[in-house]
Amino acid sequence: SVVSVKHALSGALPAGTPVSVRGWVRTRRDSKAGLSFINLSDGSCFDPIQVVAPDTLVNYADEVLRLSAGCSLIASGELVASQGKGQGFELQAKSIEVVGWVEDPETYPIQPKPHSLEFLREVAHLRPRTNLFGAITRVRHTLASAIHRYFDQNGYCWVNTPIITTSDAEGAGQMFRVSTLDLMNLPRTDKGAIDMRKDFFGKDAFLTVSGQLNVEGYCLALSKVYTFGPTFRAENSNTARHLAEFWMIEPEIAFADLDENARVAEDLLKFVFKTVLVERPDDMAFFAERVEKTAVSRLEGFINAPFERIDYTDAVEILKKSGKKFEFPVEWGVDLQTEHERYLVEEHVGRPVVVTNYPEKIKAFYMRLNDDRRTVAAMDVLAPGIGEIIGGAQREERLDVLDARMQQFGLDPAHYNWYRDFRRYGTVPHAGFGLGFERLVVYVCGLANIRDAIPYPRVPGHAEF
Ligand code: 4AD
Ligand code: MG
Repeated sequence: SVVSVKHALSGALPAGTPVSVRGWVRTRRDSKAGLSFINLSDGSCFDPIQVVAPDTLVNYADEVLRLSAGCSLIASGELVASQGKGQGFELQAKSIEVVGWVEDPETYPIQPKPHSLEFLREVAHLRPRTNLFGAITRVRHTLASAIHRYFDQNGYCWVNTPIITTSDAEGAGQMFRVSTLDLMNLPRTDKGAIDMRKDFFGKDAFLTVSGQLNVEGYCLALSKVYTFGPTFRAENSNTARHLAEFWMIEPEIAFADLDENARVAEDLLKFVFKTVLVERPDDMAFFAERVEKTAVSRLEGFINAPFERIDYTDAVEILKKSGKKFEFPVEWGVDLQTEHERYLVEEHVGRPVVVTNYPEKIKAFYMRLNDDRRTVAAMDVLAPGIGEIIGGAQREERLDVLDARMQQFGLDPAHYNWYRDFRRYGTVPHAGFGLGFERLVVYVCGLANIRDAIPYPRVPGHAEF
């Protein structure tokens, strides 16, 4: 029967079991004794399976000896306990059926040798064939699955918010405009009606920067909800932490305040880290060995450390007193820069930090104004080695205060009338946050650049594949 490499290597099948495995050649090595050893991967687990091909196979000379990295094949035979290292299993092949050859093996981009990450970004469509990107892909999947499981187990409903929108959810003007191609074969419109070729929605439409405003409506009916989907930001920041297209997880909780919000953020992160350590030990061990020595130990540290909470105003004092020369000087009222965040987390506290109550001027219009009237009930969760991983807030549930904030930010209330309805009809205190999924992947895998945390990165100047 056909089994995955993971199943074949798992020890669940006794030696002697006849099986077929299907996958792609990593390496081939030929011994003088008339045997070829083929490392075959199907991506189901970190390790490839070793297929032992004897020269008695009918296609040994014609085909087996021509196999190179990237060729696809089906190997059938018997599982046997490996001779050499450890306890593992290998496949003693009775037949090898080549499914797809690699044309021109010399120029095949994914040779069995180390490649630079920069090079692999240029062949992003082929990089999942490497050990590193196989591991990142599986871990990314497990993180996504763990997030859904966390919310499911805690009574949250997953809500799919729109990708095309007409509201700027962050009020920061970083949206991509959506338009149709003029030549698209759309129906001709009558005089006076909108020209759908130019103005499909009847007003300017954009790609969403956040599903928050939409999901708030569902929160104020279903109590505990979350989004998990792609978001888009046209910010011209060519950094190792920013993407133009990234995935975000946004829970929204009715009757919750900032304190409860921070508690959920901590609980969620700890749950997903525990899950990935239990379910992806082979991939995590690889990251610790090859990518970032502390990949596993820092997750364990994270799980065991209670998050520190620091008020923004106190954080500014700590930074000022640090004696550090920052590139951006700190002053009450400025937004914290990455260097400040990293100092707080890595040098001052040494574990994850939740910074709360930022100046109202630097935060979004929907955040709840505190009684001091100069700060809002905002929070950022800062992780060691990365900085901001989560941004969130208690929402402004009072219509008059919200209106004043929108006016202050120069936002047109007419655009947000539907959002104002939530305050007009049965408003309640509520809070939520946004977890940047790729920042989470970067943190867990110990990556240096967010472009390696998403299959096909979109950044200024790059949208290939
Ligand atoms: O802090 P942000 O902008 O918050 C919001 O969008 C809120 N609407 C969330 C909410 O309260 N529901 O973004 C949230 C997180 C950041 O902490 C960061 O992890 C990630 O999204 N993020 C990005 N990740 C990659 N590339 C970018 N350009 C990002 N911008 C934000
Ligand atoms: Mg933020």
